[in-house]
Amino acid sequence: MLGRARENGLLDFRLHNIRDYTDNKHRKTDDYPFGGGAGMVMMAQPIYDCMDAVTEGSRVHRILLTPRGRLLTPERAQQLSKLDRIVLLCGHYEGVDERVGAIIDEELSIGDYVLTGGELPAMVLVDCVARFVPGVLGSEESASDESHADGLLEYPQYTRPASFRGMDVPEILLNGHHANIEKWRREQALLKTKQMRPTLLGRFGKRTDR
Ligand code: ADE
Repeated sequence: MLGRARENGLLDFRLHNIRDYTDNKHRKTDDYPFGGGAGMVMMAQPIYDCMDAVTEGSRVHRILLTPRGRLLTPERAQQLSKLDRIVLLCGHYEGVDERVGAIIDEELSIGDYVLTGGELPAMVLVDCVARFVPGVLGSEESASDESHADGLLEYPQYTRPASFRGMDVPEILLNGHHANIEKWRREQALLKTKQMRPTLLGRFGKRTDR
């Protein structure tokens, strides 16, 4: 989907290797933490130089992917989709020199688990944000019709045949009464959310941006 969107000029992405911006002969991008402790910390210098080269002084929104960040939500993804240009900085799982914070606008996490680096989270963010860019999905309706779009998980979907291995599609979906179908879907979405993600119900109805 993203490849097609790029071909159609709806969005673009570029990759930059922080290692290309090191100023030491071993092209080292991390070092031991002051104060001791296990693991390595990403150095500020290559990140600052890479950021300078990439942004060329222009005002772009700069995001650090880190498990320490605010959780990426569909609301935030939608807001980000309206920005012209975003720079994503992929952190290292053991940390980034705190002084990098001075050139970062926002820290985001894709979930309460730790990955080995910010690369996969960056790809997840790009995909999640791209879905809100008009024209990226087949129909503009789709991004607002799915799980999490209104704070609830998605209702059950069926396609042909109406009967498969003894399992029948709920009668209500076959008889075409639009209002009844809508009501049923709402109930099912609530039920599914209650079963799978009860904590989401607290957020439901509090969203005002959509
Ligand atoms: N880097 C490592 N784990 C991460 C996470 N869960 N979210 C964002 N960046 C990360």
